[in-house]
Parts: sequence; structure tokens; C-alpha cells
Amino acid sequence: MSAETRQGESAADPCHVAIIMDGNGRWAKMRNLPRQEGHRRGLEALRRTVRHAAELGIEVLTLYSFSTENWRRPQAEVSFLLGLLRRFVEKDLAELAEAGLRVRIIGGREDLAPDLRRLVEHAEQSTAGNSGMTLVVAFNYGSRDEIVRATRAIATEVAAGRLDPAAIDEAVLHGHLDTADLPDPELVIRTSGETRISNFLLWQAAYAEFVFSPVLWPDFDKADLVAAISEYRRRERRFGGVEPVTVRKAGAA
Ligand code: IPE
Ligand code: IPE
Ligand code: MG
Repeated sequence: MSAETRQGESAADPCHVAIIMDGNGRWAKMRNLPRQEGHRRGLEALRRTVRHAAELGIEVLTLYSFSTENWRRPQAEVSFLLGLLRRFVEKDLAELAEAGLRVRIIGGREDLAPDLRRLVEHAEQSTAGNSGMTLVVAFNYGSRDEIVRATRAIATEVAAGRLDPAAIDEAVLHGHLDTADLPDPELVIRTSGETRISNFLLWQAAYAEFVFSPVLWPDFDKADLVAAISEYRRRERRFGGVEPVTVRKAGAA
């Protein structure tokens, strides 16, 4: 976001913004359209938001696009959402790479088809050297699953004698999460009026500010993103202390 500070706002801008993109189904239902149409329009909102976030100078943008719980949806909807990810990685990648973005996918990969997994790995590897905004897509992501996978990896190192249990601290756990190389989000936005976290970044969002927007995700626009950031700037962040901390809190534990 630009350097100027509006009245009543602190100077700190969020470095990492994470969004729970919710409300595609309700957007479609209100228009008597199939849920799939809501997801299609949701993908357009995602593309727009990536552009707007980069314009606003956000360094890391994480988008929750499919949760470990979303497998409970009807098979046809699950297949459609998997198809959208595939098309996004296939078709948008060149454009994102051209714009200098780094692409990261977080979430369990074992459940993905081998070719989709290869596409995802290619997207990450081919953009790893870029210096623009980091776009993190949370797909087949669940925070509890991520913490379980991290715990299993740590236990494996302990069992192999490579790690002393006494050396396990917050940094070690953080280092085994899918987000090991990313700063924690300072701002989490959820659209559609729901006010829950739905298994998203439970560890990483320990001190995030939450902004809940009534806007349904397909309607989410730049003004809504700017409004959420303005709301963030008005918050007093104390991190357990007494005085507000205004410096940018980029970085993990
Ligand atoms: C968000 O929209 C997209 C995903 C969770 C994949 P929803 O599909 O959850 O939309 P609502 O909540 O039914 O309106
Ligand atoms: C959260 O939305 C997951 C994503 C946005 C990908 P859901 O619509 O799945 O969440 P619940 O079921 O309402 O908690
Ligand atoms: Mg929903």
C-alpha cells in the first residue's frame, strides 16, 4: 500500500494478508445459478485480488481455495474445484511468472493426482527465483493436518537420532510447517459474513488481526481489500504487552 497514512490510521501495513474466500455457493444461489457458476466467478475474483494485492504492495497473499474438509462436498463439486485449480496452474502460471510473482501451494499433496502434483511443483520451481509478491494457494489445506504432518516429520527425525527432543521449540515446529519460509499473516480476511476460522492457519494466525466482510467472494473487489487493510491499520496490536506495537511484524515466532 502507498506510503501515505490516512487520518486515524497507524503507519504499519500488513506484509502478509490471508483470505478465506467464502460465499461462492450463496452468490450463485441468490441468482438461481448452479454452485459451479459461483466457483467460476470466484476464480475471477481470485485473479482480480492477486492483481490488486500486488498493486497495493502486499508481499505475501495467501488464498484458501480448498480445505481438507471440502472433500465432504458432492463428488461433482469436488471434481469441478480440482479442475479449476488445474486450469489456474496451467493457464495463469505464465502470466503470474511474467509479472514476477512467486507461486507457492500449501496443503497435503498425497491426495492430488500425480500429474496435478507435477504441475504444482513446476509452478513453484519455475517462479522460485522471482522477486515480486508471493502468492500462496492453500489447496487441500487444513491446519490440523499440517500440524500432524509437521509432528510426524519431527518424530521421524527424533527416531532417527537426528533431533534431540529437548531441542524442539516453536521455531522447530514452525520450520516443519508448509509455511516454514513465510512470515506469519498479520491480517486474515474472511468474506461472506461467516465468522469462523475453518481450520485455516491456526498456528500462523496466532496474533493475526481478523476482518470479517459481508461481501460474497465473487463480488470482492479492490475497495473491499483496501477497506480491510484500513481496518487493520486502525487496530492496536499489543502482542501481550501494554503498549501498542506499530512496527511491521514480519517473520515467524
Ligand atoms: C467458497 O465458497 C469456496 C470453497 C469453499 C471451495 P463456498 O462454496 O463455501 O460458498 P458458500 O459458503 O456455500 O456460499
Ligand atoms: C472455508 O470455507 C474453506 C475455503 C474457503 C476453502 P467453507 O465454506 O468450506 O467453510 P465452512 O464449511 O463454512 O466452515
Ligand atoms: Mg462456504
